[in-house]
Amino acid sequence: MKFFIDTANLAQIKEAHELGVLDGVTTNPSLMAKEGITGEENVKAHYKAICEITDGDVSAEVIATTYDEMIKEGLELAKLHERIVVKVPMIKDGVRAIKYFSKQGIKTNCTLVFSAGQALLAAKAGATYVSPFIGRLDDISTDGLQLIEDIRLIYDNYGYETQILAASVRHAMHIINCAKIGSDVITGPLSAMLSLLKHPLTDNGLAQFLADHAKAAEAGK
Ligand code: G3P
Repeated sequence: MKFFIDTANLAQIKEAHELGVLDGVTTNPSLMAKEGITGEENVKAHYKAICEITDGDVSAEVIATTYDEMIKEGLELAKLHERIVVKVPMIKDGVRAIKYFSKQGIKTNCTLVFSAGQALLAAKAGATYVSPFIGRLDDISTDGLQLIEDIRLIYDNYGYETQILAASVRHAMHIINCAKIGSDVITGPLSAMLSLLKHPLTDNGLAQFLADHAKAAEAGK
């Protein structure tokens, strides 16, 4: 399963990259705004800076919501770097745009997906990735992981190559359950990735090993 980090924060992207387990980056307009990145040229420069850190795909979201504008914006984004994936919302014009980009050999990530039907449409349009937002479904008392299971079943039934990119991942159990279901990718904040490290028995065990080593070294003097 691929690990993407869901942020536009360069320091966090570097930290995840240096851990050696980062496969790509996803961003969205809210995450860019959170880092204070505004203005077309600054946004483009920021995407390029992200592409220089990671070796994996970098999702850059279009702001446009009409077909012609999405195509124009998506083509400009795709030109920025070979690792850019054009992120397109799950709306009618978005599905058309994904089909267009897919015919041009441009990678896409269909975002804001909340149902299996939307995921089916994204795959039929040829999306490279589909992003179901599991945390936001959980937020409204709907089972986000069940959606990942449903999409996995549908894609496997027909051999769709669209990769399931579980998004809005918030914590370790989301990641572990996505891996059990067979999600192709997860994306979440650095904190979710780092939470996989944590176990009290690891901390206790290490403290004991080091204490025993120090005691034996002292006795051997
Ligand atoms: O990738 C989608 C993500 O940015 C949404 O996450 O935590 O805002 O629901 P969240």
